[in-house]
Amino acid sequence: MMFENLETASPDAIYAVMAAVRADPRPHKIDLSIGVYHDRERRTPIMAAVRAAERRLLETEATKSYLDLAGHDRFNAGMTALVFGDGARDRIRAAQTPGGTGAVRVLAELIGRARPDARMWLSAPTWPNHPAIMQAAGLETRSYPYFDPATSEVQADAMLDALGGAGQGDVVLLHGCCHNPTGAELTPDHWDAIADLALARGFLPFVDFAYQGFGDGLEEDAAGVRRLAAKVPQMLVAASCSKNFGLYRDRVGCAFVLGPSPERADVMLGQLLGVARANYSSPPAHGAAVVGTILDDAALRAEWRAELDDMRAHMLGLRGMLAGSLRARSNSDRFDFLERHRGMFSLIGASPDQVARLREEHAVHMVGSGRINIAGLPEAEVDRFADALVTVLGR
Ligand code: LMR
Repeated sequence: MMFENLETASPDAIYAVMAAVRADPRPHKIDLSIGVYHDRERRTPIMAAVRAAERRLLETEATKSYLDLAGHDRFNAGMTALVFGDGARDRIRAAQTPGGTGAVRVLAELIGRARPDARMWLSAPTWPNHPAIMQAAGLETRSYPYFDPATSEVQADAMLDALGGAGQGDVVLLHGCCHNPTGAELTPDHWDAIADLALARGFLPFVDFAYQGFGDGLEEDAAGVRRLAAKVPQMLVAASCSKNFGLYRDRVGCAFVLGPSPERADVMLGQLLGVARANYSSPPAHGAAVVGTILDDAALRAEWRAELDDMRAHMLGLRGMLAGSLRARSNSDRFDFLERHRGMFSLIGASPDQVARLREEHAVHMVGSGRINIAGLPEAEVDRFADALVTVLGR
């Protein structure tokens, strides 16, 4: 028999919570689990610019024949400009992928093709799918200190110390912005220090960039990636359009390789397309055609940017409201980090038992690590959630 030795797989930490929320019959439940944006009406809407681009595509799309292995040229060109601005363009090559996850996976396999013994350094903590992907790609993983639970900030000295021990054959995975799960951000100085270490030590920076536009703005959020790209000879970037275009289920992402020369970048891209071909062949067309259409059209692009700005303002507003409500209830500034963090997520310092109590006694769902998705919090529930947190975590 083929499958007799298989054991029951443990459910995915994040998707399991999403399923638990759906199964919870309590009408007052609050869903702070999986990283999807919720608007003021508690919906995850299709963006108006996306709808408009889809309408246009419905009229003009002439074929469903295969895309090239690298996907749509228009999408790749638009994404390269969105992520890198004007910098290092001649050394960057892009390939459309099924989601940001697909980009992380094919880039990890590219590393395995180049150096099967490469070590992948992940932040402690990181997105739980990162170690799973690296393991699936056959790479050894290490971790570097990132988050200090005592301050809810980046442990910069410990991080840089650890990365000083990485060298040739090491890859350092960084979150481009809106760190998942902590919400604690690298400053421009941290990015510069990491770039200097990469140059001095010879490790390869690999940036997972899933939340561009969800932190401080499209340009602001790209500052770290661009600082690195200006300094280092080689790097990899995995971008996602799940959040900033709201295209989650359409699976739209982009894998970028930056080489020391245009010729090396071509070699890297060729190998990357070989990895893709052996996985899923060519990428799915629809979502990337939508993004390419929006990025290429001044009016649609302006509409999309305005919607994205509004989403970000909503999340920043919720952060301020929640921090204020907790300040009043705890009579302390211990939750002020919520206002300093960026993106959808923050680690709030709840133990697994406290997460379970919040779910059972207060109908508040979050990932077991104590990660909240601030976008899931309805404004009308901010005070109730703050009460629950203070009750369960203590003042
Ligand atoms: C999350 O971390 O909740 C999101 O990135 C969704 C996912 O795929 O896990």
